[in-house]
Amino acid sequence: TRACFNSLEDKELTTVIDAFEEKKYKAGEVVIKQGDEGDVIYLVDTGELDCEKVFKAGDPPTYLKTYKPGESFGELALLYNAPRAATIKAKTDCLLWALDRQCFNNIVKDAAMKKREKYEATLKKVELLQTIDPYELGQICDALKPEKVAAGTKIIKQNDQGDKFYILDEGKAYASKVTEPGKPEERVFEYSKGGYFGELALLKNEPRAASVIAETECKLLTLDRMAFKRLLGPLENLLQRNSEAYVKYIKK
Ligand code: CMP
Ligand code: CMP
Repeated sequence: TRACFNSLEDKELTTVIDAFEEKKYKAGEVVIKQGDEGDVIYLVDTGELDCEKVFKAGDPPTYLKTYKPGESFGELALLYNAPRAATIKAKTDCLLWALDRQCFNNIVKDAAMKKREKYEATLKKVELLQTIDPYELGQICDALKPEKVAAGTKIIKQNDQGDKFYILDEGKAYASKVTEPGKPEERVFEYSKGGYFGELALLKNEPRAASVIAETECKLLTLDRMAFKRLLGPLENLLQRNSEAYVKYIKK
């Protein structure tokens, strides 16, 4: 399970699973209609659904994404007491699990909102994420996994394979790199709250280009490779452009 449900403890998750109701939809049926009132959040068991949104009245809808098994949708209306923000239509026959507002409010909402509130403040400090829309930002919050490391920990080791992207939530860290074989490593970048690293290995499918070391105890927020591609894929050009700063940093 994903998204909102990430913030639940195991015990709460069991309660949620008991409260789910099975719903079947045929290919072509509309599950959620933009503008309607919403009382249910859905989790996809089997099948695929398309999500589209009319951004300006009168405009044709814009395709946003396809939901697959394990993903959930319809959380916004429940989290923010707002009309449905998009339309979701079954692309194939689907089996969905539905959770109603009351169960959602009792079990999921607090945990999900707490997690969003906690991380949104940090994410708003990340320059990279300034252009991202609030929906995507919420999705990123849901997917983040916190990690705490002691001062001196090598968070990333140059030349290792990489599967994680990091945002620094608290503390100080620095990147250190062997720029020429045989030479000692040099400090090439410094991080404080809102800084990010570990994107290059994921973007380029290459080994880690530098080491990153915790200078103080650090609180980190991480995204695994799949979440990174899914959520930050649209920022790839920006990430590439930002990485040009590494070169300048070395020349300084
Ligand atoms: P909700 O507004 O309850 O119903 C429509 C759902 O579409 C919404 O919750 C989200 O789960 C999903 N959705 C996916 N992409 C977007 C988007 N860009 N903006 C708004 N809703 C989205
Ligand atoms: P990645 O290669 O995945 O892991 C090491 C990270 O260090 C890298 O991504 C960048 O985020 C970061 N970094 C900081 N400065 C540099 C630099 N000069 N060269 C390469 N990577 C750097």
